[in-house]
Amino acid sequence: MMRQVRNRIIKRLFFVALLLSVLSGTAVFFLEIKKVDEHVLQLALKEAQSLSDHVAFLSLRDERDFALVREQVAEHIMSDHISRGNFVVIELYDPDRKKVLKVSDPDYEQVEDAVGKQPRKMPLAVKADYRKLYIDGLLYIQVSSPISIASGEVVAYFEGIYRMDPGAMGAINMRLLVSVLQVVLVIFVTAAAMYPVIIVLSRDMIRLSDDLAMANMGILEALGSAVSKRDRGTNSHNYRVTLYAIRMAEAIGLDREGIKGLVKGAFLHDIGKIGVSDDILNKPSELTREESRLMEAHVDHGVDIVKNYAWLGDAFDVVMYHHEKYDGTGYRTGLRGKDIPLKARIFTIVDVFDALTSRRPYRDPVSYHEALRMMREERGTRFDPDLLNKFMAIAPDLHRDVCLACDDRLVGMLADLRTVYFGAR
Ligand SMILES: [Fe+2]
Repeated sequence: MMRQVRNRIIKRLFFVALLLSVLSGTAVFFLEIKKVDEHVLQLALKEAQSLSDHVAFLSLRDERDFALVREQVAEHIMSDHISRGNFVVIELYDPDRKKVLKVSDPDYEQVEDAVGKQPRKMPLAVKADYRKLYIDGLLYIQVSSPISIASGEVVAYFEGIYRMDPGAMGAINMRLLVSVLQVVLVIFVTAAAMYPVIIVLSRDMIRLSDDLAMANMGILEALGSAVSKRDRGTNSHNYRVTLYAIRMAEAIGLDREGIKGLVKGAFLHDIGKIGVSDDILNKPSELTREESRLMEAHVDHGVDIVKNYAWLGDAFDVVMYHHEKYDGTGYRTGLRGKDIPLKARIFTIVDVFDALTSRRPYRDPVSYHEALRMMREERGTRFDPDLLNKFMAIAPDLHRDVCLACDDRLVGMLADLRTVYFGAR
């Protein structure tokens, strides 16, 4: 049980850590990207603004002077901002947003072509703007910005394509990777640190739940035994049918949850007899029709008792259907065949076997072999034929281990199995 809980905790912690890593890693990634964008934009804008000293020619009215200075500015841009800088294209616009100069690096014509094919044109906005472009695996930033002089007056507009240095890109990518890995590492280390704390808390919870389950089982056994003692003068019937039922369930491979329901049902199957009078319950002779009707109502009383408790929900099938017969002639619902719940079909076999082989107020027990013979006669009518076959196969062991055991031995065996199926540790 603890191993299952431990595995579940590990899986859940890992899943939560993974989820947090993906979410946090993504958030960190985009935050870092945004920071890098801002950084690169500032570099590009700084370079653009540095051209403010060279755009005074835009106000020249003489065409020759204008062309001359424009040529000088173009040479300056080519040498300082393109050949030795990071721009591959620079365009200048006058205050009326008319293009007056374009300088581009002939080695990056493909970039210009690619940018020209991009659907969105950069607007010559009143404030700086940018967009990122990946061309041939390299990052370029297209920047647009007004150029202003000291007074704040916009004297020109700048538009350029800034090339991210591959070396700088590598460093940025490495920084990104390290940042994301740091976040992931912190999350997984935190999850690992939480693991022992959760394990200790879970162990305490399991111990409490274990104690509670055992206490519940104790109450359930006491209740079932009280009814059995009143009905039969001994509580060993309940112990035996429970042991038989568990062995049957194990033989057919019923799962743990099914066996737990079967055990609860075995203890409580006749709990409804609490509502049947002693006169009927202990009548040594055959019951009248009316007495039989009252006796059969013990199923309804039992259902009324168990249906209100969630913990007893899995006992319902046995309490409700333990007097049904495979051919549909049983009570209280007349269900037949495989429509009768499996736990009830199992229980019917072991209940009848124990009824036949134990002493009742109105008759002596029949022998083990006689009991098996009588049960075979009801194969397919009262009992599920497949289950009866299984029962016949283990009947010798059941007879030796359970039927012939004393009450103390029965209590010991039951305590062991109760720990197996209801113990959490
Ligand atoms: Fe019954």
